[in-house]
Amino acid sequence: MTKFSDIKGFAFDLDGVIADTARFHGQAWHQTADEVGTTWTEELAESLKGISRMDSLQLILDHGDHADSFSEKDKELLATKKNLNYQKLIETLTPEDILPGMLEFIRSADDNGYKMSIASASKNAPLILKQLGLTEYFVGIVDPATLHAGKPDPEIFVRAAEVLGLAPTAVIGLEDSSAGIDSINGAGQVSLGIGDDKVLSKATLNFKQTSLVTLENIKNKMTN
Ligand code: BG6
Ligand code: MG
Repeated sequence: MTKFSDIKGFAFDLDGVIADTARFHGQAWHQTADEVGTTWTEELAESLKGISRMDSLQLILDHGDHADSFSEKDKELLATKKNLNYQKLIETLTPEDILPGMLEFIRSADDNGYKMSIASASKNAPLILKQLGLTEYFVGIVDPATLHAGKPDPEIFVRAAEVLGLAPTAVIGLEDSSAGIDSINGAGQVSLGIGDDKVLSKATLNFKQTSLVTLENIKNKMTN
């Protein structure tokens, strides 16, 4: 088992880990679901977390049995419309919208010499980090447009460790989605799940909420 003293860096998911943007994605996709005639459920919302924009749209269409009713062009238009609605919501973000405890955690990781990168499926990640005033803390952001496969594939977290210049075993990945936990585990990192431990049952470490994520609490859950 990886020891806490082996850890040199953190790879962060963004939506639902650093900022409460998962609810904005949910709101915008809910509008899309209404438009295409798919019933919106909490279960569907949960299954979209961590999933890329086009794959999320496909899941919404499949869920309403409309897989064949929309051309590629229609899908592009629906995804663009969703993103414009989403961007209107994230324009309002300020540093006040950082999830409880995460600014303190990021600052203390920085003060203690840990390196940090972003492993988010979102093409809006650079904009969100800027709005939150956090850009300077991260050595890099994996560009999701350059990936061959999205979460749950390990590629994004493998790349996030490369950005840090660290071996995967020296990295803890932080995630709020089940697809993301699979990606971290596949990349050979320690997975830290934030949220319901039944949904995130495959996480190495689990925290119910962001306010509980501190270096001290992580250390206490690992061997030293
Ligand atoms: C992930 C979110 O972080 O990014 C997903 O959890 C979202 O809900 C995905 O679909 C892609 O985001 P964007 O901003 O590129 O549409
Ligand atoms: Mg997330």
